[in-house]
Amino acid sequence: MVLSVENLSKSFGKTQVFSNISFSVNKGEIVCIRGKSGEGKTTLLRCITGLEIPDKGSIKINNMYLCKEKNNLIQYAQKEELQSIRQEIGLVFQAFNLFPHMNVMENLMEAAVFLKNDSVENIRTRAIKLLKRLDLEGKENSYPYQLSGGQKQRVAIARACMLNPSILCFDEPTSALDEQTRNQISKIIRDLSSQGMAIIIVTHDNGFVDEIAQRIITMKDRKITFE
Ligand SMILES: Nc1ncnc2c1ncn2[C@@H]1O[C@H](COP(=O)(O)OP(=O)(O)OP(=O)(O)O)[C@@H](O)[C@H]1O
Ligand SMILES: [Mg+2]
Repeated sequence: MVLSVENLSKSFGKTQVFSNISFSVNKGEIVCIRGKSGEGKTTLLRCITGLEIPDKGSIKINNMYLCKEKNNLIQYAQKEELQSIRQEIGLVFQAFNLFPHMNVMENLMEAAVFLKNDSVENIRTRAIKLLKRLDLEGKENSYPYQLSGGQKQRVAIARACMLNPSILCFDEPTSALDEQTRNQISKIIRDLSSQGMAIIIVTHDNGFVDEIAQRIITMKDRKITFE
């Protein structure tokens, strides 16, 4: 099991987004999360990637606690452990969030260089390999505004893969993509999963769910159900 979420609750002020939800994800598994707009899908992804603090419950990644509840308070892992746990889980945002002032190569290298997780030369070599794999050779020096939607999406995936996470989360990966690019993204996701990466995809795209999901979670009225 690479991800285990237990009794997780989150509210914003008086709005309870979800309450007491539990699920787990295995190595290499592709799980899709569906639900109407505003049911809390993005908030859930933000909690499991450490960007949002839940009110209650625990999140365990590769058997290490990202956070857990103690005496009614949420406690996060200590600094160094927290950094290594967070590297195990990547997120491709709904709007890609590429750094607009950095070219493709700089976007890919930024986090790994900042975290000093390898020599700059090795980090660059990894970036070149990923760009090749995602059919982005020759785009190293382009800036996000010079890329198509599908290319930006692939750069965002390459960037999220740079730290070699055990889990990769996607928020609406196929919105705004034409069918050919969507098929390309679908193939990339299946390749990553077959190499052992666990994948969590939030999507409204039912065709995509039918095509790719090994398990489906639906969020509704603050709860989740499994299909
Ligand atoms: N930072 C925030 N502050 C206050 N309320 C928030 C915040 N982020 C989200 N919410 C509220 O939490 C609820 C869930 O939002 P969320 O973005 O998780 O929904 P979603 O399921 O991803 O929707 P969509 O399908 O439209 O992307 C909404 O009611 C939203 O208004
Ligand atoms: Mg959302």
